[in-house]
Amino acid sequence: MSNPGKPFGQTPAGESVTLYTLKNAKGMEVRIMNYGGIIQKILTPDRNGKLEDVVLGFETLQEYIKDTPYFGAIVGRFGNRIANGKFTLDGKEYTLAAQNNGQHLHGGLIGFDKKVWKVEAASAQSLSLSYVSKDMEEGFPGNLSIKMTYTLSEDNEISVAYEATTDKATVLNLSNHSYFNLSGNAKRDILNQEVQIDASRLVAVNKVLIPTGELTPVNGTPFDFTKPHVVGDRINDTSSEQIVLGGGYDHCWALDKPAGSYAKMATVYEPVSGRKMTVSTDQPGVQFYTGNFLDGHLTGKYGVQITKRHGLCLETEHFPDSPNQPNFPSTVLRPGEVYKTKTAYKFSVN
Ligand code: GLA
Repeated sequence: MSNPGKPFGQTPAGESVTLYTLKNAKGMEVRIMNYGGIIQKILTPDRNGKLEDVVLGFETLQEYIKDTPYFGAIVGRFGNRIANGKFTLDGKEYTLAAQNNGQHLHGGLIGFDKKVWKVEAASAQSLSLSYVSKDMEEGFPGNLSIKMTYTLSEDNEISVAYEATTDKATVLNLSNHSYFNLSGNAKRDILNQEVQIDASRLVAVNKVLIPTGELTPVNGTPFDFTKPHVVGDRINDTSSEQIVLGGGYDHCWALDKPAGSYAKMATVYEPVSGRKMTVSTDQPGVQFYTGNFLDGHLTGKYGVQITKRHGLCLETEHFPDSPNQPNFPSTVLRPGEVYKTKTAYKFSVN
């Protein structure tokens, strides 16, 4: 069954944006727009069956266009940071926007989060979007064609699948930047939520949040989430240098699962509502970010002021700065190769 979506406004350039509602028989609902591929809303039940929204965002397109910390968006061409906005590929140096503390972040000034994607297909439970990123757009080489599909399953799982090809060697690291808050309608911050991550090593960073190149053991540190931990318990433990550098959690964990394998790797649980989210991916890492830079200047849906630690992100990805780190799994895509990756967020109650 085809899904026409609803007009959601226009960009300043006059491009029309459509908002699609995916819904399953259980009543779970996901709203996604073709601007930035942004997940605008996820309505999922608490343990009493009450449907509430579990992601941060805005009610209108204009607010997303004006100022957003990547709420719900697809980030790329390269998600997270590249040191000094420079990398060398096949002997050639490329210069990117270095808009974050002198570092490149999330694809540059006009990343994939700010592009209007083409709608390829929309049905009651899935939405396929495509985007062609031109050679040297934001400084990246190669015409890159991306197709991505969001699917809502009958068992309350949202999967995000990406495919891409290029006509010149390039680097690529796509992720979804949803800020989850399982309390429902953002009514509390995320400090009471319990997180578990199947990762025994952390991608350690320096003071501008660029990897040092070292994968350090989490054992005995506030970064050990191999067993579930309440987020707030150790987030201010300033005896940990990495906590101080990140202003809390803003790091990539190197997942324990075998390279390239698709597996469940993280859970989040909110004890008051009983909502639980299980994250699976085939990516080697996950950036767990606790909204440390949210400073209260934005008001989101439900009139909630978005203050520090009001949402948490689990951005499945390759490690930050991979193009400059020969020991990290490669993010290079060459002509003739197909980039293919999948992540899923499953919601349940406990
Ligand atoms: C990522 C980064 C954070 C921050 C957010 C966006 O998660 O790791 O440092 O830049 O994106 O605000």
